[in-house]
Amino acid sequence: MDKKFYVTTPIFYVNAAPHLGHAYADVVADTLARWHRARGEATFFLSGTDEHGAKIVRAAEKANVSTKEFVEKHRDEFKKLLASLGAQQDDFIYTSDSERHWPGAEAFWKKLVDADDLYKATYEGLYCVGHEAFVTEKDLVDGKCADHNQTPEKIAEENYFFRLSKYKDRIKSAIASDEMRIMPESRKKEILAFLEEGAVDISFSRPSKDISWGIPVPGDREHTMYVWADALTNYISALGYGRGDDTNFKTFWPADAHIIGKDILRFHAAIWPGMLLSAGLPLPKMLLVTGMIRSGGQKMSKTLGNVIDPTEFIDQYGKDAFRYFLLREIPLGEDGDFTRERFRDVYEGNLAHGMGNLVSRTAAMINKYFEGHIEAPSAEALAGVPTRRVLKHEVLSSRVSLDGSALNTYFERDIAEEFSRAMFEYRLTDAITILSSFFSLLDGYIQDYEPYRLVKTDPDKTKAVLWNVALHIIRAAKLLESFMPSTAEKIVKVFGTELKQKEDPTSIHITLSEALFPSKADGPKTD
Ligand code: MSP
Repeated sequence: MDKKFYVTTPIFYVNAAPHLGHAYADVVADTLARWHRARGEATFFLSGTDEHGAKIVRAAEKANVSTKEFVEKHRDEFKKLLASLGAQQDDFIYTSDSERHWPGAEAFWKKLVDADDLYKATYEGLYCVGHEAFVTEKDLVDGKCADHNQTPEKIAEENYFFRLSKYKDRIKSAIASDEMRIMPESRKKEILAFLEEGAVDISFSRPSKDISWGIPVPGDREHTMYVWADALTNYISALGYGRGDDTNFKTFWPADAHIIGKDILRFHAAIWPGMLLSAGLPLPKMLLVTGMIRSGGQKMSKTLGNVIDPTEFIDQYGKDAFRYFLLREIPLGEDGDFTRERFRDVYEGNLAHGMGNLVSRTAAMINKYFEGHIEAPSAEALAGVPTRRVLKHEVLSSRVSLDGSALNTYFERDIAEEFSRAMFEYRLTDAITILSSFFSLLDGYIQDYEPYRLVKTDPDKTKAVLWNVALHIIRAAKLLESFMPSTAEKIVKVFGTELKQKEDPTSIHITLSEALFPSKADGPKTD
């Protein structure tokens, strides 16, 4: 069978406008999807919105609009965000869609009933609306949920319960054996420790009289499905599960990677696998768990007024600069911090003066010394201008000791191979770090050979140097495509080629373009 790749973002709550944390999940998923798609794999990238539950009903009430109107408005914002990030999702599912999502959620519920894994019981507990989950006394600080700074509500009601406890051991062994991998390793440890103690049966419905905005429990309209029981099934309802045509489901399930934040790990690493085991379906292959991004060292919050609106940065600096920042500066799987100053510094340093300047300088020199056109030099000529620099970076293996070898050997043996390995291993921060270090190496290569001086004494050697730089900018741009799609396209265009042209060019023709990353350091803001 041909390879396939299925990646998902969490479905986002539509209780407020999207922020940086949501954009981050979109960018990670899109970068992975682009990489696999470009390798010829059948790829499916799913995103969407989570529209049911008390949290959303209350936010709509507060805004004084109907719940439907409220969720539609925010849903549109999440869709627009994907577009403004240049994301190429294959589908966008939303849970209030009674035609595309509900049949899957209902069919799934029935599977749990068939497995005798749903039973009715009376429950008394503390419900945190922020979490959309029951919490226990030990989750509280001064009587409040620490994550949401809210006092949980006391609830006593008859609900359907899911027999999660029955699957505890199987879930544990699936995680321990990496049948369902959890990355990074620290999160795997955390969830295994939780499963030692936790994974008790959980309430899977709410009385419809209290919450009717949701999917009615099949065969019992007195109850509404618990919002997480409904939401988690989006990953298969979007593939057509329960809707008659299950071609996509057969092709793409199980997911290769669910991108999730650490705050929703338990739902994905305990409840979701429990549900899948109960329904007799395969488990996702991997949960890629991202950290929390703070803003100026603090948790983003409306009260602090430090919520980062991604569109502000996308509009001012461009979507690729924003994607670059998120993937390069926030180590995947760890907590990160976002500040305007840091963003500006990275933009000016790595992009305007780094990558952007390298491209424009190289193109300008080829224009000036060779009328914008060079043919591939001979192998001997290229061997005469080896790299004198070694790219030292902890993410590269120790094999990197190619000082003095031809640049293309160096690129093929080390850069391209290491980059590709990192991408297939979900080490996105490593991959983009390798590439950006390679761009700096090319800068250094120019400095070592000083083509602006060399051209006066040895034009042939100068040509070999500039060919080398241009060719490797093109090659690196092709790898960059998953991270910075439009920048990659613009770069190769400057050198007269296209991304879809897989082979190396045999000649280079310069088409000068506007600066890739105009400096914002002086002068008025440009868009
Ligand atoms: N609706 C649920 C997910 C259901 S998936 C079946 C939900 N939605 S959310 O909108 O609150 O969060 C969506 C994602 O954004 C989560 O993975 C969460 O971790 C992530 N982030 C929210 N704030 C974040 C940061 N400040 N930083 C990084 N990611 C964060 O949870």
